[in-house]
Amino acid sequence: MLEKITGLIDEVKNFETSSPEEIENFRIKYLGSKGILKDLFAEFKNVPNEQKKEFGQTINLLKKSAEEKVNTLKEALESAIEDKGVYGDLTRPSEPIELGSRHPISIVKNRIIEVFNRIGFTVSEGPEIEDDWHNFTALNLPEYHPARDMQDTFFIEKNPDTLLRTHTSSVQVRYMEKNEPPIRTISPGRVFRNEDISARAHCIFHQVEGLYIDTDVSFADLKQTLLYFTKEMFGKSKIRLRPSYFPFTEPSAEVDIYWGLETETDYRITKGTGWLEIMGCGMVDPNVLKNCNIDPTKYSGYAFGMGIERIAMLLYQIPDIRMFYENDVRFLEQFKSVI
Ligand code: DAH
Repeated sequence: MLEKITGLIDEVKNFETSSPEEIENFRIKYLGSKGILKDLFAEFKNVPNEQKKEFGQTINLLKKSAEEKVNTLKEALESAIEDKGVYGDLTRPSEPIELGSRHPISIVKNRIIEVFNRIGFTVSEGPEIEDDWHNFTALNLPEYHPARDMQDTFFIEKNPDTLLRTHTSSVQVRYMEKNEPPIRTISPGRVFRNEDISARAHCIFHQVEGLYIDTDVSFADLKQTLLYFTKEMFGKSKIRLRPSYFPFTEPSAEVDIYWGLETETDYRITKGTGWLEIMGCGMVDPNVLKNCNIDPTKYSGYAFGMGIERIAMLLYQIPDIRMFYENDVRFLEQFKSVI
C-alpha cells in the first residue's frame, strides 16, 4: 500500500502539461471529491495501528504534492497567457500617449502676465484668506463704508475679521507694505464672493490686479498702458475710459474696448453698442498710499483690476462661466493647441 502511494507521489511530481483541461482533470483525479486522496483517507481506518503514522504522513505528502503541482501549472499557464497578450505581438501599435492641455483660465492668466512682463511688471501673490485691513480698511473702505456691501463677503471669523478675499486689490496693500517705490507689479489670483451662481457670475473666480507707483505717474501713463494691453491681448486698439467710483482710486474709471459689430455674436455680447467693459482702474487714492507707508506728496500711481474669466469668455467665446469649473474633458480638450 505504502509503495503504491510513493508511486503516486512520483507520478504527481513528474506530471507536466500546459493544457488547462489536463490540469483540471489532474486536479479532479487526485483532489476531487471522488478522487484518489479521498479513497486513501477512507482507507486509513483499515490500516493497522503501528503503520498509521507512516501511512498518514505519506498520504499527506501526496496531497501536498498534488496541490502544489496544480498551483504551479496554473501559474505557469497564466503568465504564458499574459506574455502573449502584452509582448507577443511586436507589430501591435503602441499605447497612444494623450497630451494634456492647460486650463483656459491658466492660459489667459499666463498671457496677461506675459504682456505685462514685457513692460517691466513683476508678478506678486497674496493669501486667499485675508484680514479686514488688507481687503478693506487699508483700501480706503473703513468699517460701515457702504461700498463694503457691494462685495458680498464670505466671513470665516468675526472679531478680528477673517475672510476670503473679495478682490486681488488686497495684494496691492501687502506689496506696498513690503516694497519701496518704484513699484510695478501685477497680482493674479482667486477671489471669492457670496453670489448666486449663474451663467455670468460665480462665487469663486479669478482676477489680475495691477499696480504702478513712482514719482510723477499720471493718468496718461495709465491710459497708455491699458491701450498697450488691449492691443496685445485682444488685437483691438480703441478704448475708452468712463468715469466711475472705487474707494481705493481717485479719479476712477471703467475701461471699455471697442469690440466691433461685425458678427451676430458681437451684437449679442456688446448689447448692440460695439463696446465691452473689461476692467476697473484709477489713480491710487492718497489715503491708500498713506495706509501703506508711502508718502503721497512724493509718489503717485495707478491701479487696475480685471476678471480673468470674463476675458477668457470673450477671447474663446465661452457662453457660460460655469463651464470653467465643471471639468468636462470635452470642454477642456478644446484648448490643447493653445500654450
Ligand atoms: N477691486 C475691484 C473689484 O474687484 C477691481 C478694481 C477696480 C481694482 C479699480 C483696481 C482698481 O485696482 O483701480 O471690482
